[in-house]
Amino acid sequence: MASILILVGTESGNAQMVADALKPVLEGAGHAVDVTDKAATKADLEAHEMLLVVCATHGSGDIPTNILPLAETLERERPDLSAHRYGVIALGDMTYQDTFCGGGKKVDKVLELCGAKKVGARLEVDASSQPLPDEEALTWVESWKALV
Ligand SMILES: Cc1cc2nc3c(=O)[nH]c(=O)nc-3n(C[C@H](O)[C@H](O)[C@H](O)COP(=O)(O)O)c2cc1C
Repeated sequence: MASILILVGTESGNAQMVADALKPVLEGAGHAVDVTDKAATKADLEAHEMLLVVCATHGSGDIPTNILPLAETLERERPDLSAHRYGVIALGDMTYQDTFCGGGKKVDKVLELCGAKKVGARLEVDASSQPLPDEEALTWVESWKALV
């Protein structure tokens, strides 16, 4: 059983909807799951061995404001997260061709810089072709949870 923290980066609620859909699935697989859309602290991260980032993209490839302080702190301070593993679900829209899923990609990169080990491939959900991001995430998590 793993202790999982789902880190939600959202401006308009889609990423929160995805996180809320995934929580019971991961709990059903025997994991302890916390969800936060607040700016998590390093202590929050350290209390969980597994992180699952569910992060939208806003502006022009930007990280949503609620999770931006965490991403900036990690980038600046580079805490040692080598004991942590993580997965990433990035939400975006292909009509923003050059910045598609930029928010999730940036958080992914910052966790990698801190030494965390990625589990599974990043899921990138395109709002222009998938109006229900939770459906795609629920399919993805079936294989991801087996790797946790
Ligand atoms: C003002 C605005 C800017 C956006 N910019 C981007 C972008 O640069 N790249 C991208 O892939 N998606 C972009 N999106 C699409 C959102 O990331 C996508 O709709 C996502 O599902 C929103 O999730 P949220 O409701 O959790 O914030 C943008 C959406 C809005 C409304």
